[in-house]
Amino acid sequence: MAPHTTMGVGGPARLFVEVNAPEALAAVLGFLREAGVAWMMLGGGSNTLFDDGGYAGAVVHLGREFRTVEEVAGEESVIRAGAGATLGAILSFARRRDWTGLEFCVGIPGTLGGALAGNAGAGGLDVCSLADSVEVLTEEGADSGAIEILRRGEFEFSYRASFLRDRVIVAATLRLAPGEPEQIKARTDEHLSKRWEQPVGERTSGCMFKNPPDDFAGRVIDRCGLKGLAVGGVRVSETHANFMVNSGAATAAEVRSLMDEVRRRVAQETGIELESEVRWVGSPPA
Ligand code: EPU
Repeated sequence: MAPHTTMGVGGPARLFVEVNAPEALAAVLGFLREAGVAWMMLGGGSNTLFDDGGYAGAVVHLGREFRTVEEVAGEESVIRAGAGATLGAILSFARRRDWTGLEFCVGIPGTLGGALAGNAGAGGLDVCSLADSVEVLTEEGADSGAIEILRRGEFEFSYRASFLRDRVIVAATLRLAPGEPEQIKARTDEHLSKRWEQPVGERTSGCMFKNPPDDFAGRVIDRCGLKGLAVGGVRVSETHANFMVNSGAATAAEVRSLMDEVRRRVAQETGIELESEVRWVGSPPA
């Protein structure tokens, strides 16, 4: 799974299935369930890490027909996008129409489905707050395979967490607002400038830990003097301490062990228990 994740570590899955059309998705998941094969959805792989032992099931990835981005007829500044569309593609679509609301997404990697599942965000703003409705696949019962539309208020979310994590997200509508091009550009540039305080262009999974209440994981790790701390091929970024960088030769075990070591030292020095922000597939770290 290493090539399918931005950190670039992790062993093989038994099956990797790219599904190109909505009708095929229900059929594939029905088949896997009947065959008793475990399965999981994977978006852009920018917040998921696989163990070196890989995954003893099927990894399902959404392809072509799940990448559509379109206007919603009869609605002002509402976008409907497939779960496989990248946040980047949705952001460009909004910018071409001078619609505002998504500027904080600039530079966030990954797909809409993954962003909703993990409630991706930046600077206090998050993707789930923009979602007007989310289309999910019904997995059980007589309606199995049908699309269910969850409206705002019918799905709960909080900082980097959402109940959509357990659902098969197919598409969503995002409610934006008409904006002024100069203001949109200024806000986008402001968010983009934060990106240069992060290890851009390196192999990372974004932030590794959630911010603890009333503090920042990056600041806490930095204060403990852990920038540059390494285990094998992975190290705590010198640019931003809440990122870990794979030099190219890291294993998942090394990433896990560096996470454990950072948690241990931070707890020892500050009493703060850092919580993982990345999704681990395989046996999870503490
Ligand atoms: N800081 C340090 N040393 C460091 C890094 C940060 O002292 O090495 C300090 C900064 O100076 C600042 C504070 O910590 O005072 C917060 O840092 P920053 O502004 O970079 O924000 P953050 O809380 O670390 C959050 C998100 C990022 C998002 C940025 C930009 C989390 C865990 N992280 O970072 O999201 O890109 O804001 O808005 O909520 C992600 O979720 O994967 C992610 C990268």
